[in-house]
Amino acid sequence: MKVLLIGSGGREHALAWKIVQSPLVKTLWVAPGNPGIAAIATCIPIQAEKLDDLVAFAVEKAVDLVVVGPEIPLTAGIADLLRNQGIPVFGPSKAAAALEGSKAYMKDLLARHNIPSAPYRTFRDPESAWNYIQEQGAPIVVKTSGLAAGKGAIVCQTLDDAKQAVERIMVKREFGEAGNEIVVEGFLVGEEVSLLAFVDGERVVPLAGAQDHKAIWDGDTGPNTGGMGAYSPAPALTESLTQQAIDQILLPTVRAMAMEGTPYRGILYAGLMIDNGAIQVLEYNVRFGDPECQPLLMRMQSDIVPFLLACASGSLEGMTIQWDPRAALCVVLAAQGYPGSYPKGDPINGLDQGSPLIDVQIFHAGTRLEQNQVVTAGGRVLGVTALGHGVAEAQRRAYEAVARISWNGIQFRRDIGYRAIDRERQT
Ligand code: AMP
Ligand code: GLY
Repeated sequence: MKVLLIGSGGREHALAWKIVQSPLVKTLWVAPGNPGIAAIATCIPIQAEKLDDLVAFAVEKAVDLVVVGPEIPLTAGIADLLRNQGIPVFGPSKAAAALEGSKAYMKDLLARHNIPSAPYRTFRDPESAWNYIQEQGAPIVVKTSGLAAGKGAIVCQTLDDAKQAVERIMVKREFGEAGNEIVVEGFLVGEEVSLLAFVDGERVVPLAGAQDHKAIWDGDTGPNTGGMGAYSPAPALTESLTQQAIDQILLPTVRAMAMEGTPYRGILYAGLMIDNGAIQVLEYNVRFGDPECQPLLMRMQSDIVPFLLACASGSLEGMTIQWDPRAALCVVLAAQGYPGSYPKGDPINGLDQGSPLIDVQIFHAGTRLEQNQVVTAGGRVLGVTALGHGVAEAQRRAYEAVARISWNGIQFRRDIGYRAIDRERQT
């Protein structure tokens, strides 16, 4: 079959790497892809936001399946456009993608169906937001309702921080239209995990648990990013907590959406906070997590394509995923200045130095080719991902591979996996 994958990040490199391993797939196009993806699939120069061009390409090539990596084309409605042309697509409709595209919609849906999540209010003007914040007190969390590349949630330890957050979003409009509406919610304590599931409109097939590291610096300090590293499995998400998350959160959400006439198909990513056996939803995303996707797909032994097809237009009934019992861990290498502004065009050294390491993949994210040299072209540049017996060994192997790579201003966290490794030490 012929598959078109949309996107150009580390997540899409991991998806491409996994999809081309399927015996079902003859051709994989990736729009627009990146230099890492170009080594394993055919990249075509259509940006992920160019919906009409993407649909025209899919129609012209009579593509059998479109897999949408990032959230922007989904919230803009690419799945509806493709379905109207009779092309199967892995990804939710525009209406269902509002689960990520509008935090106000997401919070209201969960509240209507009593699905556990932090208490909240939504606002369209700074004064009423500030009044509510003063009533509630700090710590408190201020979020853009719209998409902000993982950077629109501001955790405020003091009222002063919260005042500034409201100003940044609603007055200075740092996040543009994403900040037209804000969600102010209660601060949750606990341990964060990511639980992703394939969804066919009715059924859910959970993936293994994963844990992200959102803050830029070691020890989870500094501003939030799109994610600086991830691993799977997440020991914090035990089997019984996973079942609880499915029964109390994922399935009720999928049922609520079907009942409200916006059935969900695709991958559903729940950002969960676990505290003393209670689980609450922090966020929903309507696509694979980046970088969670990288370690998850390195551990997934089943062919991914039947799952993508079942979500696109079939049924997941009776399907389960085989996992590599080993752990996988991904370290994100970022450009200096990220998550703020950062330079581009720095030559990357060490990408093809030495013999390839076994069970290590270097997934490209923000890279491009300049005169046959791979250079930096984004904030998150590479995702070095390794398998190992346990998280500690996966970590050691990933950092060994990281040590081979360098460029001017490279920055990365040196503690990816620390929570799981602490747990491994205790057992
Ligand atoms: P979001 O974009 O909503 O996932 O938020 C990004 C990150 O901010 C989350 O991964 C958490 O680390 C943090 N965060 C968001 N909401 C809350 C909350 N209600 N309480 C504590 N931390 C939060
Ligand atoms: N890693 C977090 C996200 O993809 O939103």
